[in-house]
Amino acid sequence: MGPRKFIVLVTLLAAAAIVGASAWAAALLHARRTLAPAEQAAAIGGPFELIDHNGVRVTDRDLRGRPTVMFFGFTSCPDVCPTTLIQIGQWLEALGSDADRLNVVFISVDPERDTPARLKAYLSAFDPRIRGLTGTPAQVAVAAKAFRIYYQKRPVEGSDYSVDHSSVTYLLDERGRFVEPIAYGTPPDRAVTQLRQVLAE
Ligand code: NI
Repeated sequence: MGPRKFIVLVTLLAAAAIVGASAWAAALLHARRTLAPAEQAAAIGGPFELIDHNGVRVTDRDLRGRPTVMFFGFTSCPDVCPTTLIQIGQWLEALGSDADRLNVVFISVDPERDTPARLKAYLSAFDPRIRGLTGTPAQVAVAAKAFRIYYQKRPVEGSDYSVDHSSVTYLLDERGRFVEPIAYGTPPDRAVTQLRQVLAE
């Protein structure tokens, strides 16, 4: 085979691999999206033990008694996490005093860098009702797995690493059971309606 034919062949193989991988990823996402609500509820959630930004131990049981807004992220995140935390603050603002009947937790998927002190400093820029949770890498892995959260370190030029992660916000009821997600980019009115519903249940 001449070099030109070889290049064409390699290009075709690479294209086929990309198409295959995208189809697989789309199928995976689609499978997640089409889970019936009852199946989702059964699949999302479980026991965990973490530590909050003040160094206090927090388990899934400690969140019971109030509905919970839960978001996984990390303090070095350049865009999605700060945007989401700002939006959560706006929802809480819109809820007024009803927001005080919610737990709002930001769970780090970067436990190696996100110490309680670092979480506390970071969260001081956002609504004070947002509680930061972190733990050992093993503890965070348990929590993320329970809530079906994907996260993966990725090397980045100019810094140590970034962390790719699921950017969905979860609503849990007062018994700690998954109710529904608030997708990234949900219009604020819609999100506040979702929160009011979970508060009314
Ligand atoms: Ni993020």
